Amino acid sequence: MIIAVDGPAASGKGTIARRLAAHYGLPHLDTGLLYRAVGIGVLRAGGDPSVPAEALAACGFGEAMLHDPQLKSEAAGKAASIVSAHPEVRAALFTRQQDFAAQPGGAVLDGRDIGTVIAPHAPAKLFVTATPEVRADRRWRELVGAGLAVERDHVLTDIRARDERDSARSAAPLRMADDARLLDTSALGIEEAVAAAILLVERAL
Ligand code: C5P
Repeated sequence: MIIAVDGPAASGKGTIARRLAAHYGLPHLDTGLLYRAVGIGVLRAGGDPSVPAEALAACGFGEAMLHDPQLKSEAAGKAASIVSAHPEVRAALFTRQQDFAAQPGGAVLDGRDIGTVIAPHAPAKLFVTATPEVRADRRWRELVGAGLAVERDHVLTDIRARDERDSARSAAPLRMADDARLLDTSALGIEEAVAAAILLVERAL
């Protein structure tokens, strides 16, 4: 059983994927972390994420890198969305994601292209979204909660820029798979969103 969860930044897809994994007893991979690890790797090497060769050189990171707290930073998210536009970076991370999806008992993966590229045959696909304003508000609360002084408008501008980069790129752009089920979490709390996700998965299986 493979569950593919895709959607834009701060849509709730990560939380939903984690909760689905716990509900069904499946391993979970947040594929955004892979791109964040590459982005941070380039920045730490003093490189430029927009240069494909420099991004590719950062793709050989080890498992420990995926637990680095800096991966969650806005800088990592921005660098991730830049390196993820390079087809060579996507190709370098492809097998790792496919192997995870192919585990005998199944898996839950969340990202931007799980239902379209990584696991196109997944029986259950969700596309989780919310309005840019709601997503910016969630992200802003998270950042403020973590003690960071940021403007809500600035977060909204960043979210829109990231949406634009993720949707406009030619390599695996963010788009809903034809056979995915749409879950708009704009008006839903976490528990409501998780319950709705479980219902959609049950219907798909
Ligand atoms: O989901 P998260 O915000 O951690 O992803 C960071 C960036 O990595 C995204 O903006 C996107 O550009 C990229 N990404 C991707 N494909 C995935 C997961 C993330 O291109 N499967």
